[in-house]
Amino acid sequence: MIYQTSMAQKQILIETRNNSLVLSSDTDGSLISRYFGKKIAYATEYGVIPTLDKYTPGSDDLYNKREAYVASGSINLLEPALSVTHADGNKSTVLIFQSFKETVIDDNRKLTAIVLKDPKYNFEVTLNYLAYFDEDVIEQWAEILHQENGDIVLNKYASANLTLSGKKFYLKNQYSSAMREMRSEEQQLLHGLRTLDSKLGTRTNLLHSSSFMISIDCPSAEDTGDIIAGSLEWTGNFKLDFETFDDYYLRIAAGINNFSSNYTLKSGENFVTPRFVYTYSSYGTGLASRNLQNWARKYQLREGTSDRSTLLNNWETTYFDFNDEKLKNLIQDTKNLGVDVFLLDDGWFGNKYPRNGPDAGLGDWQFNKQKLKNGISAIGKEATTSGVKFGIWLEPEMVNPKSELYEKHPDWIIRQPKRKEYYMRNQLVLDLTNRDVQDYIFNVVDETFVQVADLAFIKWDCNSLIYNANSPTLKNQDHFYIEYVRGLNSILERIRKKYPKVPMMLCAGGGSRVDYAALKYFTEFWPSDNTNPFDRIFIQWEYSYYFPSIAVDNHVTDMGIQPIKFKTDIAMMGKLGYDVKVHELSKSDLLFSQNAVKTYNDFKDIVWHGQQYRLQDPYQNDVASISYVSEAKDRAVVFNYFMATRNATKQALPITLKGLQGDKRYRITEINLYPGTKSPIDSSKIYSGDFLMNIGFNPEVSNRRTSVVIMVTAI
Ligand code: DGJ
Repeated sequence: MIYQTSMAQKQILIETRNNSLVLSSDTDGSLISRYFGKKIAYATEYGVIPTLDKYTPGSDDLYNKREAYVASGSINLLEPALSVTHADGNKSTVLIFQSFKETVIDDNRKLTAIVLKDPKYNFEVTLNYLAYFDEDVIEQWAEILHQENGDIVLNKYASANLTLSGKKFYLKNQYSSAMREMRSEEQQLLHGLRTLDSKLGTRTNLLHSSSFMISIDCPSAEDTGDIIAGSLEWTGNFKLDFETFDDYYLRIAAGINNFSSNYTLKSGENFVTPRFVYTYSSYGTGLASRNLQNWARKYQLREGTSDRSTLLNNWETTYFDFNDEKLKNLIQDTKNLGVDVFLLDDGWFGNKYPRNGPDAGLGDWQFNKQKLKNGISAIGKEATTSGVKFGIWLEPEMVNPKSELYEKHPDWIIRQPKRKEYYMRNQLVLDLTNRDVQDYIFNVVDETFVQVADLAFIKWDCNSLIYNANSPTLKNQDHFYIEYVRGLNSILERIRKKYPKVPMMLCAGGGSRVDYAALKYFTEFWPSDNTNPFDRIFIQWEYSYYFPSIAVDNHVTDMGIQPIKFKTDIAMMGKLGYDVKVHELSKSDLLFSQNAVKTYNDFKDIVWHGQQYRLQDPYQNDVASISYVSEAKDRAVVFNYFMATRNATKQALPITLKGLQGDKRYRITEINLYPGTKSPIDSSKIYSGDFLMNIGFNPEVSNRRTSVVIMVTAI
């Protein structure tokens, strides 16, 4: 929609159900970000905003405007979104509003494309805003194009620049390391620049997540306050800059990391940045998460609105030590447990250099003849004839120095020939910028499908980051990091074209690669190798700020001292899987697990497709509580965990539920009980939704009942 303001400036309004982003050109032609926040009743009033801005820099003040996409080298001296070296060597860019176009994609999506041009150079940027009305989500990206006399160099090229108004800003972000993914911190952004980035090439979330939240004026809260949640859709090096200026503004630039990546752009070539997805919530982090989760399921996550399989994985029970016999037993275990898939993990390949540990065999994707006498296809067949689906682990981007691939194709490996080789987990990364390597990787996956009829699941691992970044074949090493991701995407694109439906788990030595660009190809991700159920509550809690539970693979394992019920209840808050020695479970643990799989099958739809509400956080409460409510609000499943380490013996107060329908009447039943235990919860009592959402319900969690799952059913 376009409005004329009193100052005859063009106003562009990008709206979703509850929010508005208002942009308009200034008297000098620059495009200004006027407002981003809760929608107001009369859109025409947005036109008044420019008249209220009394910012007038004195002659000693820095010129500073809320430009929608800040270019460097002329009047902007704060952190830019864009830096360019033009064909004549000039390093200044000025962007002037030219035109905009709205395209209605369907009744929920509208694309607004705004063209900005440099008045002195044949150079333009198109800012794209794809608004998802119902989800209150915007995806933003830039396209950079020029017709200058010769190549230009993009020195920085963010996807989006957002300017937020407020008095204070708090950044909530998650930092990680292997086994300790998604620890969270929140701090006020003081003056200056704060950057979260990755230069790791692959496994790019090993240190930091590429998702974040900003809370305006006060620290974030679950149900109150203004929150912006964003995530960069890029499976590579990222850079998120936060710069506060004056007393009232925060500017965010989100995009590919320009570290070692000056990008040469030919005349007529279009550089398209990755998308940055964000949402605005006026009701705290809870709504912001639900917005992103709803958007992801419907539009981004592979098969986000359909089903998932439960599985038994052998990694933690066998590691590399297995053979036909053991696998046969595991297939029977899968059947016995009642889950859908048997997932064979690392260690099934390599002959000259058998994959009996992490130091050899990676790259040689021929089944190991010692372990699998009749081949991988026979194992697949064994599973299908036993009524179990079969899945397999691959790590196709990597190579061990002890491998035939390394011997045969040193030219396919990322390294600096003049320098010492450095390894992460004894391995190196293949050069995905090279077309031959892309073909090789595609063929590895394709061949696996050929060998294993009815292959029903793939776990795609990535255990190394990139040391000694250098492609043996790429002409311009400044393009290396970008071309790597493009290479990866092109392989995944080909795989998905041929195998659109097969579930694929995204894994990177735990959760070091979790981003929405990859989740376009993957149905789910492995959050962490840390499956200690106590730690898992925190890890899953933090992922839930950005990602829907249907995408999160949680396995019941031997880690942790908690009883199997506690472990299972936690794993159920996502996609349930197992990595246990089923035949070694006690009779009652096995019975409990078999029943649990059935119970899960009954309510998994709510966890996968319902709305998630974080009720009580695990940091400040003796009991952590999380619920999922069905779309029709007729069923909710509420998970409650005893977190106290001191002897605080029980949850004293009722926990207020969320997302129910006030005038509906609900019955509460405890489910997933351990055999032989009785619930103190009286399921004959009926409560109104209003009661449960205002007064609440006490699930009676204590140091004797450390984990309680309740089902809330409308009658
Ligand atoms: C790292 C993954 O996170 C694990 O789950 C497992 O697949 C190993 N790699 C196998 O090497």
